[in-house]
Amino acid sequence: MRVRNVLVTGGAGFIGSNFVRHLLANHAAIRITNLDLLTYAGSPMNLNDLSDSSRHTLIQGDIADRELVERLLREHDVDTVVNFAAETHVDRSIQDPASFIHTNVLGTLALLEAVRTVWLVEGGRTAEDARFHHVSTDEVYGSLEAREPPFLEGAAYRPSSPYAASKAAADHLVWAYHRTYDLPITITNCTNNYGPCQYPEKFIPLMILNVLEGRPLPIYGDGKQRRDWLHVEDHARAIAMVIERGTAGRLYHVSGRVDRTNLQVVEALCDCLERRLPAAVHLPLQERIVSVTDRPGHDRRYGLDSRRIERELGWSPRMDFHRGLEETVAWYVEHPSWVAHIRARPDYQAWLDRNYAQRGICA
Ligand code: NAD
Ligand code: DAU
Repeated sequence: MRVRNVLVTGGAGFIGSNFVRHLLANHAAIRITNLDLLTYAGSPMNLNDLSDSSRHTLIQGDIADRELVERLLREHDVDTVVNFAAETHVDRSIQDPASFIHTNVLGTLALLEAVRTVWLVEGGRTAEDARFHHVSTDEVYGSLEAREPPFLEGAAYRPSSPYAASKAAADHLVWAYHRTYDLPITITNCTNNYGPCQYPEKFIPLMILNVLEGRPLPIYGDGKQRRDWLHVEDHARAIAMVIERGTAGRLYHVSGRVDRTNLQVVEALCDCLERRLPAAVHLPLQERIVSVTDRPGHDRRYGLDSRRIERELGWSPRMDFHRGLEETVAWYVEHPSWVAHIRARPDYQAWLDRNYAQRGICA
């Protein structure tokens, strides 16, 4: 299938903005319409350094607004939708699940209805000339046991958090539209992403900013939970391959093949920061690590087997984890205006204060 006009949703967020940057830099013929509600997690600042902004249009709006989505599909002659838009933070979903159902479930449903109407009912498009790509997560499978192998495509869904349950519901809807209406879809489920422009409520950027701003480094519970870390540029490249060459009706796992405990990650970050900023930080940083109240329903371990995408599309992760962490630390240190912009948002400090008060530490 030839990709020309792409509607990216949530493209002002972390992964979406990195994906937009990747597509514009590597696919000269592609034009992008970027639909983003610009919630606390999205910012036009994430799109400041695009290589060719003439091929990119940012529209502020809600994916749950079906009329708006239908209009964009028609006006921009969209042949490919890549759905990143979501509420994404597990801790927030535990405190306030309603917005997760609105965007992740009802928003995905509205997108599916819009593409069904414009592509199938009005346009007679097929898998040759249309694709709905949905970005999902390893969290839909729930927790892996210590000795279990990583999840394969087709494993049973056992979501733990309201976030994971909302993503699982969205995935089921996407499959239902494929089976019922023959909508040409693909899905990728990926592991934990890291890299530039990640909102600093997530583990890695939060720990970096906590060091830079002199705060403690809160580790939930014993810190032995394991995550598999995928650099966002590797993820963007995987999705670009799937929309260009993936088979309609197929699910692909995307794993960074970097299995680490949270403690190992925070210790590696402390090492990077100590080497980079010896004069500016109080050493040794590891003394700032504190164990705090655990996340309710906290999954012990995530992990995906991504041999399918490696075998069928020739993708594999390229970023070495150590280098990826070094570059990520460097990005946050070298972008003080981005950090200041996020810190100035009323939501940022309010969230830190609320989250940390619940865990018994001062922000
Ligand atoms: P993010 O929170 O950084 O960005 C989400 C973006 O969606 C923001 O720009 C926000 O403004 C936008 N948005 C939210 N609600 C919207 C709505 N109703 N309409 C339009 N736009 C809306 O998220 P992210 O980390 O970049 O994640 C992107 C996608 O990847 C999500 O679907 C997430 O579930 C999935 N995912 C993320 C990770 C990860 O480690 N970050 C891992 C696996 C899967
Ligand atoms: O696995 C994919 C998922 O990864 C995505 O679907 C989610 O959108 C994304 O937020 C992420 O979920 P996690 O819950 O794994 O990520 P988070 O960054 O919130 O936390 C990573 C681990 O670090 C987790 O075990 C909780 C722990 N943690 C997190 C924070 C914010 C801490 O120990 N301390 C913290 O302050």
